[in-house]
Amino acid sequence: MSLLSIEQLTKEYDGIRALDRVSLKVEGGSIKGLIGPNGAGKSTLFHLISGVEKPDSGKILFKKRDITNMESHERSALGIGRTFQTVQVWGNMTVVENVMAGMHRRLKGSLFSYGLWLPWIRTSEKEALKEAKEILNSLGLLGKWESTASQLPYGKQKLLELGRALAMKPQLLLLDEPASGLTLSEIEQLSERISEMRQKGVTVFIVEHHMGMVMEVADEIAVLHNGELIAEGKPENVRRNSVVMEAYLTRGSAGK
Ligand SMILES: Nc1ncnc2c1ncn2[C@@H]1O[C@H](COP(=O)(O)OP(=O)(O)OP(=O)(O)O)[C@@H](O)[C@H]1O
Ligand SMILES: [Mg+2]
Repeated sequence: MSLLSIEQLTKEYDGIRALDRVSLKVEGGSIKGLIGPNGAGKSTLFHLISGVEKPDSGKILFKKRDITNMESHERSALGIGRTFQTVQVWGNMTVVENVMAGMHRRLKGSLFSYGLWLPWIRTSEKEALKEAKEILNSLGLLGKWESTASQLPYGKQKLLELGRALAMKPQLLLLDEPASGLTLSEIEQLSERISEMRQKGVTVFIVEHHMGMVMEVADEIAVLHNGELIAEGKPENVRRNSVVMEAYLTRGSAGK
């Protein structure tokens, strides 16, 4: 049984069909890649899965439940986490607070709205701090845990956003271009982290223009072009698919 099932999803913006009857599945425990030239509809698909936008028609099933019209917060409570194409961290908060903010849904009450004098809050906050530091350590950010998030370079802010998404302990993690703006060594580290996530049972759906990275980490790749799904399969087959090559050549944006 697929963890996520997209059925005939269509979304238009001012007459532009960003997605045109797209159907695909993401199997639990797998890493699925989503590629396609600029404007293909990749981020739109993620907005529909995470609930930022609603489709014009079609269905989204997560763990067999129809989530098509659920609000974003309900979807995240069900286990869907995401990062955005444009980095979204709280610049004025410290690095570790950004990660802890991702946990507060799971903790008893809010970390920030209860008084710190309550002993159980202190305990849960200590646990949260420990867990947040472990996540930061795995992303190579522990040395910066007390820095203000806005002081981090762009690539590190992207990793931090990933850390906050991981703190939510999602079952399905949607990553929209996590490698963009990262240095080569950060990209290598990111690939390792993503492979580790799968070992821990997190299913990953990743949009990425960095072909080397996505072909290496993904079990399966889906290709969008002008809102349509034009190919799907193992990375080595998609790489050789002439329809895919044509789509990239005509659009002239083969990524890196
Ligand atoms: N909010 C919006 N209003 C109007 N048009 C939009 C909106 N969001 C997306 N579009 C259009 O929908 C199409 C798909 O956009 P989308 O952002 O999903 O592409 P993408 O595959 O993520 O591209 P990129 O690789 O550049 O991020 C594009 O033609 C885009 O201009
Ligand atoms: Mg996009």
